[in-house]
Order: sequence, then C-alpha cells, then structure tokens
Amino acid sequence: MGLFSSTKLLPIVVLFSLLFTSYATNSAENNFVHCLVNHSEPSHPISAAIFTQNSSSFSSVLQAYIRNLRFNTSTTRKPFLIVTPFHVSHVQASIVCAKKHNLLMKIRSGGHDYEGVSYVASQPFFILDMFNLRSIEIDMESETAWVEAGAMLGEVYYRIAEKSKTHGFPAGVCPTVGVGGHISGGGYGNLMRKYGTSVDNVVDAQIVDARGRLLNRRTMGEDLFWAVRGGGGGSFGVVLAYKIRLVRVPEKVTVFQVGVTLEQNATDIVYNWQHVAPTIDNDLFIRLILEVVNGTQTATKTVRATFIALFLGDSKSLVSLMNDKFPQLGLKQSDCIETTWLKSVLFWDNIDIATPVEILLERQPQSFKYLKRKSDYVKKPISKEGWEGIWNKMIELEKAIMYFNPYGGRMAEIPSTETAFPHRAGNLWKIQYQANWFEAGEEVAEYHINLVRELHKYMTPFVSQNPRQAFICYKDLELGINHHGFYGYFEGSAYGVQYFDDNFKRLVQIKTKVDPSNFFRTEQSIPLHSHVEFVRMVTEKSLVSVLFGFFALNWIRRTSSNMNY
Ligand SMILES: Cc1cc2nc3c(=O)[nH]c(=O)nc-3n(C[C@H](O)[C@H](O)[C@H](O)COP(=O)(O)OP(=O)(O)OC[C@H]3O[C@@H](n4cnc5c(N)ncnc54)[C@H](O)[C@@H]3O)c2cc1C
Ligand SMILES: *[C@@H]1O[C@H](CO)[C@@H](O)[C@H](O)[C@H]1NC(C)=O
Ligand SMILES: *[C@@H]1O[C@H](CO)[C@@H](O)[C@H](O)[C@H]1NC(C)=O
Ligand SMILES: *[C@@H]1O[C@H](CO)[C@@H](O)[C@H](O)[C@H]1NC(C)=O
Ligand SMILES: *[C@@H]1O[C@H](CO)[C@@H](O)[C@H](O)[C@H]1NC(C)=O
Ligand SMILES: *[C@@H]1O[C@H](CO)[C@@H](O)[C@H](O)[C@H]1NC(C)=O
Repeated sequence: MGLFSSTKLLPIVVLFSLLFTSYATNSAENNFVHCLVNHSEPSHPISAAIFTQNSSSFSSVLQAYIRNLRFNTSTTRKPFLIVTPFHVSHVQASIVCAKKHNLLMKIRSGGHDYEGVSYVASQPFFILDMFNLRSIEIDMESETAWVEAGAMLGEVYYRIAEKSKTHGFPAGVCPTVGVGGHISGGGYGNLMRKYGTSVDNVVDAQIVDARGRLLNRRTMGEDLFWAVRGGGGGSFGVVLAYKIRLVRVPEKVTVFQVGVTLEQNATDIVYNWQHVAPTIDNDLFIRLILEVVNGTQTATKTVRATFIALFLGDSKSLVSLMNDKFPQLGLKQSDCIETTWLKSVLFWDNIDIATPVEILLERQPQSFKYLKRKSDYVKKPISKEGWEGIWNKMIELEKAIMYFNPYGGRMAEIPSTETAFPHRAGNLWKIQYQANWFEAGEEVAEYHINLVRELHKYMTPFVSQNPRQAFICYKDLELGINHHGFYGYFEGSAYGVQYFDDNFKRLVQIKTKVDPSNFFRTEQSIPLHSHVEFVRMVTEKSLVSVLFGFFALNWIRRTSSNMNY
C-alpha cells in the first residue's frame, strides 16, 4: 500500500476518485431504488419501506436505533438510504439489487453494536433496518419459539413469560438488545452457567444469503448453520429469525446485589470470588462489578466491588449455599429478593422490580450515553498482590469500570467447536471494560476511550494470551479493521483469531464458500480465503515475482509523477 503514497500524485487521485464516487453514487442510488421497486412483489410493495435522505422521517428512522451517542453526531457519515423491510421479499430485493449495483449494505437489528458497525460506514452505504420484522411465535408443546431478528430480548422474555412462568431463555441482560446481532455473536446472560449461551439453544434459523435465497437449517446446511451461531453478524447473510429452545426456570428465583469497598475487605472477598464463582452450583450466577467511588475520608477514593446474582431457587437455599461456599461475602437473608424470572430481568437492568413488566416492551432505553467497551478472558486466578496493583491502577484512572462474568458450569462442558462461539472450558471469567460519559466532543471522548485502553493494557499479564481473546458481541474496532482489499485475510486474522480462536479457520472456509464475492462485509466481518491463497502463492512460491512487482509498481509510480510536472 505504501508503494502508492506519492504525495504528488495523491491530490489528483483523490480528486478523481471523489468525482467518480459522487457521480457513481448518485446514479447508482437512483438505479438501486428502481431496482428495489422493480423487484418487489405487488402484494408487498417495497416503496413504504424506503427512506431516502429527502424523506421527512429519514433522521428519526436513522436515530431510532442509535445506542451509542458517539455515532449520533453531525459529522458521522449518514447512509444514502434506509430500507425497513416488513416482508422477506424486501430483504431479498435489497440484497439482489445492492449486489447488482455494487453497494455497501449495513444490517441493523437492535442497533446495540458498541462501535456502531450496523449503522456507520467509512464509504457510501445503505442500512437494511430490521425493526419491523419482530414477531415472536412460541410453541409451548415443543418448548421452542421462532423469534425474528428485529425483536428485542425484553420482548422475547415478556412473550415467553406470558405463556409460562417456568420457562425462560439464556440471553443478554439488557432488554433493548436486538435478537439479530446478539444471537449472531453468541449472546450470553445470567443463565449461561446453567444453560450455556444463546447459540447453544438455537435449533433452526432462517436467513437470506448473498444470492437472495431464503434458507433454513436444512437448506443452508450444517456448516452455514454452525457459522450463524456465534460467527458474528454481517458476514454470512441476513438473519430473518432464529428458532430457539426455551429453558426451564423455577417459578421463584432469588436475586441480590451487595457492594463492598476496599475499606470493607473487598480484596479478600474478590480474591475468593474468583475461586468460587466459576465452580459453584450451576444454578448460581454471580457477576462482579469493580468501580472507583469516594472513600469514607474526604477526598479519598476507593474501589467498590458489587456482587449481583441470580439464583434458580429460593433465598433459604441460596443463603445456605453461600455460607458454605462463599462465607466471605457474609450474605444475609435480608439481602435477598425472591421474585419471578421475568422480574429478575428488571432487577438486573437496574429497574425497580415493582415496575410493571410491560416496561420490557419499550423500545427506547432508559438512558442514553457515549460509551467504549473492550473485553478479555481470564484463565488463572489473580494473586492478592495482583489485585492490589489493579486497585491502584483503577483509582489512578478513576472512571474506568470492569464487569466480570463467571464462566464454568455448562460453559465448560460444551466443546469449543460445537458452535462458532469458541470461549468454553478453561475460562474463569470474562472481563468487560467500560467507560461511559454524557458530554459531546472529540476530546472528552478521547479521554474516556484512553482510560479503557489503559486499563486493558494494564491487565495484560492477568488475561489470556496467544491469542488474547475477545468477545465479538463486545465489538472493539481497536482489534483491527478490515479494508477488504489485498490484505483482507491478514487484516481479518488480526481480530478474527481473537474473537474466534481456532474456529476462525472454519469460519473463513464457510465464508469463502457461501459468499465468494464478499457481499456481506463490515469493519470486522469474516474475510475470504482466496486472498490467503494468492498471497501465500506470491510470498512462498516466488520471491522473484514479489521483487518484480515491487520494482514495476515503483516504476509506474515514478513515471506517473513525472507526468505531473
Ligand atoms: C446496553 C447493552 C447491553 C448489552 N448486554 C449484553 C449482554 O448482556 N450479553 C451479551 O452477550 N451482549 C450484550 N451486549 C452486546 C450485544 O449483544 C451486541 O452489541 C449485539 O451485537 C447487539 O445486537 P443488535 O441487534 O442490538 O445490534 P446491531 O447493532 O443491530 O447489530 C450488531 C452486529 O450484527 C449485525 N446484524 C444485526 N442484525 C443482523 C441480522 N439480522 N443478520 C445479520 N447480521 C446482523 C450488524 O450488522 C452488526 O455487525 C449489550 C450491548 C449493549 C449496548
Ligand atoms: C424490471 O424487471 C424486469 C424483469 O423482471 C426487467 O425486464 C426490467 O428491465 C427491469 N427494469 C428495471 C428498471 O430494472
Ligand atoms: C432530493 O432532493 C434534491 C433537492 O433537494 C433533489 O435534487 C434530489 O433529486 C432528491 N433525491 C431524491 C432521491 O428524491
Ligand atoms: C441524536 O442527535 C439528534 C440531532 O442532534 C438529536 O436530536 C437527538 O436527540 C440525539 N439522540 C439522542 C438519543 O440523544
Ligand atoms: C476484615 O477482615 C479482618 C480480618 O480478616 C476482620 O478482622 C475484619 O473484621 C474485617 N472487616 C470487615 C468490615 O468485614
Ligand atoms: C465524591 O467526592 C467529590 C469531591 O471529592 C464530589 O464532588 C462528588 O460529588 C462525590 N461523589 C459522590 C457520588 O458522592
């Protein structure tokens, strides 16, 4: 790439490509709309699903599912069009026409992507916005449900509870997260130690592939069905719906939230948590949140460790289990709340459990913020000295938060090759690094993003290595961005191996087979294999051709810059 960086040539290349792009975009856009209309079935006209930049509701449709205010600025590139399908033929037309006119399509379901990948791009693009496709059909006889991509987790939980007080589904704790992106990336929540991730409970799927074909598990085949269970959204097709297997929960569950600071022996308790949380009874999930708060002395800072739990049982059994296995926390009966599984969802989302459960149907979140996230996996316990160092670092940074989610239980029993989501046995817990802020501006953003980077860097000796693993649902573009050019495979390997470990290779093979033109692509989608083959050929088989290429390109560059004089 550096070969082309002649500063003299650059302005001309840029000007030319700008002219070309804007011309190409305008005409392609018009042709695209014609193509969409032409491809829609008269019984399901697509025109009502098309929003151009001229439509009066364009901005409100775009903003309706922006969940990170960093990407709600006037300088964020806007799509030239939004298609909001309410029929499968609209999805098919979008793919067929976008492919024909060589347009970049971003797919959005719930819009919770931490990096805005579902609605932001560095090139002209349009959004396929799935929010209209959100039906949920529950079949209690088979204990399964078909849930469409545009449904939110809160709606899924609510509809299940409407049918049964003793069923639930293992997925995320935030009710406004979309099914489409969440399940594509694996999806986990507080039932993970008992029942695994969301993809461990998916039995069928409906997708539209790069050729516009509507496929289910049988017609897509087991390879592709494997890939859409954890391989990340935006690489293999448009997920229309997943068929999920409901899981059993007791009528009464118990939750608690207990916080302790360093002044209250948090070090000891956290030290013990790391041994207990991943090994204790599968019915118990204890999340740990670490954040800096004011100390009791004026102008001092301390770290607070908050333990939030879901127990699939009553409070009496929970207290006795805790006294036996985790006495350091000193859990009392009065710390516990017995409630239904559905209401436990409110508790975990920081909503008062007296609130009517209909709040789970609200599509707008309770609050909006600017945010940055990163992730890590921990495979060995951290020493007390290690914790002391972490406390000092956190107090120095002040506004960086860590969420720890314990693994073990069912997660350690499922082979890492069972689904594309790879993080299984051997993991004690997953870390999510967080910074949240509420003011606009580049500087304040950079400041907070740096806090997360620094804490992530500080944690290096304590977390997984070679590769340092990360969770695709916790999208982090700092792991690498794919430009989908000559280096696509190498760029893709950088983040791919961290997100998918050994499963990355199989994902690349499947991708190459089902979408050889790389129609479905994002900043961090699964790359094609063909580039590897090409590069391998050049580098391994013939060094001479590489040298030849190098001199040839240099010669061309010089000749063309001479022509500028
Ligand atoms: C407040 C909050 C809480 C969260 N809590 C959890 C949690 O508890 N557990 C957890 O595992 N994760 C959690 N996440 C992360 C969340 O699972 C991911 O961000 C997930 O990708 C969101 O799905 P979505 O449909 O809302 O996102 P979107 O932004 O719409 O999509 C995410 C990605 O998937 C692609 N995609 C979306 N829809 C489709 C589709 N139909 N077909 C193909 N590709 C598609 C998009 O192009 C994008 O690349 C949370 C995120 C937020 C913001
Ligand atoms: C519309 O589709 C028909 C075939 O279905 C094709 O013959 C015609 O050229 C298309 N028109 C446009 C504008 O794409
Ligand atoms: C949008 O409006 C501009 C003028 O305001 C017009 O030139 C353009 O053709 C319109 N585009 C569409 C797609 O209607
Ligand atoms: C996003 O930006 C628009 C335009 O500035 C603003 O009206 C809207 O309130 C913003 N959205 C949120 C959730 O703050
Ligand atoms: C902290 O631990 C010490 C020794 O383990 C104990 O004596 C003390 O009471 C504990 N403090 C609190 C607040 O639990
Ligand atoms: C913490 O202390 C600072 C002053 O040192 C004060 O401004 C802030 O409001 C305090 N925060 C809380 C949550 O009490």
